[in-house]
Amino acid sequence: MKFFADTAEIDAIKDLAATGLLDGVTTNPSLIAKSGRDFMEVTKEICAIVDGPVSAEVVALDHATMMKEAEVLRKIADNVCIKVPLTVDGLKTCKALTGEGTMVNVTLCFSANQALLAAKAGATFISPFVGRHDDNGFDGMDLIEDIRLIYDNYNFATEILVASVRHTTHVLQAAKIGADVMTAPPKVIHDLFKHVLTDKGIEGFLADWAKTGQSIL
Ligand code: G3P
Repeated sequence: MKFFADTAEIDAIKDLAATGLLDGVTTNPSLIAKSGRDFMEVTKEICAIVDGPVSAEVVALDHATMMKEAEVLRKIADNVCIKVPLTVDGLKTCKALTGEGTMVNVTLCFSANQALLAAKAGATFISPFVGRHDDNGFDGMDLIEDIRLIYDNYNFATEILVASVRHTTHVLQAAKIGADVMTAPPKVIHDLFKHVLTDKGIEGFLADWAKTGQSIL
């Protein structure tokens, strides 16, 4: 499973990229606003840090203007992935852009039927929002299971990008279902490394090692 960071914070992206485990980045207008940075400038910086796809979202609602915005965004770097909302105009834009060889991430997906439409429109990635689904009384992971089943039934190449990830259990469940990608806030990715028994084990080994009086270097 690929790991994307869901953030526009440069230091956090650099930190995760240094682990060698970061496959891409997703941003959205809210994350850009939170960063306080210029959209074009920060997207360019992110694209230079990671080799993989960096999602940059259009804000227009009509197809013609989405195409114009995508034209500006895709000039930023070769690894820019244009993010469009799951609407009729968003999917028209998706079809046109992927037809030209541009990566497209279809966002704000909340149903398996919407994911089916995105795959038919040739989306590179579909982003079902599991956390927001959970928040509204549904089970976000049921949605991922349904999309996995449908995509496998028809051999769709669209990658399932689990978004709105809130905790490490979401990551585990997504991996068990066979999602292709998950995007999570940096904190959740850091939490994946942690286990109390790992910390306790290191502490015990180091205490015993100190008793030997030896050193490796
Ligand atoms: O990138 C979009 C998505 O991950 C948003 O997550 O936590 O705002 O629902 P959240």
